[in-house]
Amino acid sequence: IGSPLVVVGSVNADIYVEVERLPAEGETIAARSGQTLPGGKGANQAACAARLSYPTFFCGQVGQDAHANLVRNALVSAGVHLDHVNTVDAPTGHAVVILQPGGKNSIIIVGGANVAWPKLEDGISSLTTNAQELIKRAGAVLLQREIPDAVNLEAAKIAKSAGVPVIMDAGGAEGPIPEELLKCLTVLSPNETELARLTDMPTNSGEEILTAAKKVLEMGVKQVLVKMGENGSMLVSEKESPIHQPAILAPVVVDTTGAGDTFTAAYAVALIERQTLVEALRFAAASASICVRFKGAMPSMPERKAVLQLLKEHPVSK
Ligand code: RIB
Repeated sequence: IGSPLVVVGSVNADIYVEVERLPAEGETIAARSGQTLPGGKGANQAACAARLSYPTFFCGQVGQDAHANLVRNALVSAGVHLDHVNTVDAPTGHAVVILQPGGKNSIIIVGGANVAWPKLEDGISSLTTNAQELIKRAGAVLLQREIPDAVNLEAAKIAKSAGVPVIMDAGGAEGPIPEELLKCLTVLSPNETELARLTDMPTNSGEEILTAAKKVLEMGVKQVLVKMGENGSMLVSEKESPIHQPAILAPVVVDTTGAGDTFTAAYAVALIERQTLVEALRFAAASASICVRFKGAMPSMPERKAVLQLLKEHPVSK
């Protein structure tokens, strides 16, 4: 067993409403169905890594409510170690996921416990001593942006000074990523919209994405992994030529929620396992392709067996 993956991040109960279309302003419509499922970008990424059979620890915060139990149970059955999940005096984070035909979604999140971390003030740390020690011996640390930047920065600094790679999914917040945090990152993974926001540059074509990704490298990040949905992904790094990896398209897209989380988490696992960059991108593409075939974020994260099978069915084209 290699050093574990440590995911620091958010937990949400995803309140799903399946609709034919979005209501207009002032209009009331009936949903086709409603359901509450486990989610949250941090928890999703931890569940994904564990389902891909990589030893995974999760550091996060939940409230004392039924939503906390829902996500805890899902994480435990995925195989995630939860010793570093704190219960705090705030409701568990939740998200309203509006799912439309074709798998399109609109999501609104309510931070709750995800934004109620202790403040790094007067020398008091946001992360417990045990969580800090865990980070120092991790194979990699995986972050997203649904918890305060200060917590991410603390985790990233601890990891960086221990020589542990830091991978960050840019999803979860609209504001800029603090410069100090960017400098700690080994990999930053935005989608095209997040990349445009981060760089204030257009990202409407492959060429524009490449130029914007190079600007992120100048900010101190070592690798930029741009998720482009059905257009695949582009990896731009300091040392290698850019790599464009086509997506593995799903025959039917049921729900794209969590596909980005699946992609980033699978890439993180592949990196710790020292797969080559192309292998890692393919592993991530196959994982995300399986995720979009099912409803729900966490419930649709694939097992390694299914990912390897899909890769076999889609060999590298010569
Ligand atoms: O990335 C998908 C996730 O975003 C959902 O599970 C939802 O909780 C929001 O955090």
